[in-house]
Amino acid sequence: MTDRRRGPARAVLVAIDGPAGSGKSTLARALAERLGVERLDTGAMYRAVAWAVLRDGADPADGAAVAAAAGALALEVGERVVADGTDVTEAIRGPEVGAAVSVVAAHPAVRDVLVGRQRAWAAARAGGVVEGRDIGSVVFPDADLKLYLTADPDVRAARRAEEGAVALARRDRLDRTRAASPLEVPAGARVVDTGAHSVEEIVEEVLGWL
Ligand code: DC
Repeated sequence: MTDRRRGPARAVLVAIDGPAGSGKSTLARALAERLGVERLDTGAMYRAVAWAVLRDGADPADGAAVAAAAGALALEVGERVVADGTDVTEAIRGPEVGAAVSVVAAHPAVRDVLVGRQRAWAAARAGGVVEGRDIGSVVFPDADLKLYLTADPDVRAARRAEEGAVALARRDRLDRTRAASPLEVPAGARVVDTGAHSVEEIVEEVLGWL
């Protein structure tokens, strides 16, 4: 048996999808630590692009303009998020970016740019824990493990109290109903209700699936 605390015997790729407030970042962080790999928050990438579009006074609905911004943006996504040399970690969680990000993320050309960057990130590391909305369905359909997180709407709204239940519901609706890579349960994904167990319990169960 491999001792997961010392890291995996081989590189491992875990894909985590789910709606806002389903616990993706918390679980991704804990799993990455236990597996000794890095975590990528792809939502932060879409948020950083939305931030750049707003900074430039561009129209989030203009797919060509947003895709150009996505391609040109210098982006570092770790515990801090740095876009074009500016630390945007807090700014990308604000209401302006929150309101624009689902519009930005709906453009196929924007998704092409960011999916390419996400695959390059994983290839450079030979694995990792990657969280988002289309990771198991589109970005890494051959991941070693695909998880789809759920939680009751009340639980999710409480976790995202600052955003507010109405804004959260709007974002969820846009993310689930868009034509390009909508949020869905990926084929072969394990569905985990994060409202029912502690993070530690979920991590132990998930590690047993690898
Ligand atoms: O994970 P988050 O709530 O920070 O994501 C912000 C938005 O980015 C989300 O509402 C939809 C979009 N997104 C996406 O379309 N695809 C991803 N892989 C990750 C996020």
